[in-house]
Amino acid sequence: MSLFAIETLLDPYPAYKEMRDEEPVHFEEAMNIHVVTRYDLVREAIKDTATFSSQYDQFLAASQIIAFEQSAPEIQQQLMAVNAKMVVTPPTMLTLDEPDHTRYRSLVNQLFTASQVRLSEPTVQAVVDENAERMFAQDHADFMSDFAFPVPLKIIGDRLGIPVDERTFFDRAATDAASGLRLTPLSGEQMVARAQTAVDLQQFLIGIVEARRQTPQEDMITILANAELEGEDRLLTHGECLSVLNQFLVAGHETTSSAFGWGMLLLCRNPGVQDEMRGNDKLIKTFIEEILRLEAPVQGLPRLVTQDTELGGFPLRAGELVMLRYGAANRDERQFEEPDTLDIHRAKAGAQLAFGAGVHFCIGAPLARQELNLGFKKLLELGHEFRLDENGPEPTAEASFILRNLPELRIRYQIS
Ligand code: HEM
Repeated sequence: MSLFAIETLLDPYPAYKEMRDEEPVHFEEAMNIHVVTRYDLVREAIKDTATFSSQYDQFLAASQIIAFEQSAPEIQQQLMAVNAKMVVTPPTMLTLDEPDHTRYRSLVNQLFTASQVRLSEPTVQAVVDENAERMFAQDHADFMSDFAFPVPLKIIGDRLGIPVDERTFFDRAATDAASGLRLTPLSGEQMVARAQTAVDLQQFLIGIVEARRQTPQEDMITILANAELEGEDRLLTHGECLSVLNQFLVAGHETTSSAFGWGMLLLCRNPGVQDEMRGNDKLIKTFIEEILRLEAPVQGLPRLVTQDTELGGFPLRAGELVMLRYGAANRDERQFEEPDTLDIHRAKAGAQLAFGAGVHFCIGAPLARQELNLGFKKLLELGHEFRLDENGPEPTAEASFILRNLPELRIRYQIS
């Protein structure tokens, strides 16, 4: 059984179940990684940060290195020339362990305090309203391109403080940055163009960081650009700022789009819940947790084993990689009753692991939850009888080792 075969990645849930039951720490030879699928074991590894380190940058870079090695010599030369202009970005949160992780995390926490998130509500609501009203101008949509992709992108652009007249470039560059985790092969020319966009995005963001140091505004980049790193009494370097911002663009945008998309698909496949949830914030809140539980946008992330150990009785050696599958843990029947069923009354829906747990628990979770709650509330207010468009293709996930998203979702609905 190979979890990383394309056809399995498209619908990994039967394979996850088999692994949970038979070999919850399963060695995946093709990827040289141990896949962890049971809820208790994923939690155990996440919490033991001394044994399961987050220093797995090499894993994330591997696909780019392979693509580089497989490309023609002239493409390699062009890539090297473009990459020489990249500002080096040190690890800041996702791939860093304590105590360094803690210093950056406490600095970035200032962007996601309860009052910051409250402050963002009018912006989030305005973006949701505008996009929903545009979508409901007709009775059918590609929900991904009409709502799920543009809404989180616009919100992160607004919250960061990206100038309105620079949005076309920012939107394209941020979308490119997130697509690095996809498995869709790129031509040599596309790889060079992507690399150039990444360089341009860096320079663009550095320009805003410097502008906000001169003239602070009410936005996230202002806070980030002017905050001091604990214990060092200094501002962040350009590389550190870019590293944090890059995580927002890669981790924060595509993931929320994915949750919107899978949420809409769940609505279409469970028409009974639509009327029940309309106008009921509590049920919508549980529905959002159920989307994240059933279709974790980040299906899994690696950890580096630092010392010989065992997990669930399976031996692991120092230097090996494990892949924690949040998407499999969330459907573990040992943790959730009827795990494959959407239950908008589920008492423990919030125990899902889609945002991880412990010190690396998703810092953007309050913002993502706010977007999803306000988003589905509005969609249910403006429309009813959401269903799949019989003329559209069968919704199919895009294959990725880490993320899980729908590229397209054709739907129909009645306008309320
Ligand atoms: C539904 C949407 C989202 C999902 C499913 C998600 C998922 C995750 C997961 C699973 C982790 C933990 C990584 C680990 O275990 O190593 C994480 C961390 C992180 N997320 Fe999110 N995320 C979402 C939205 C966002 C948003 C909106 C932002 C920011 C704007 C964001 C920024 C981050 C950052 C910076 C980290 C690293 C935190 C750390 O290592 O301390 N995420 N996210």
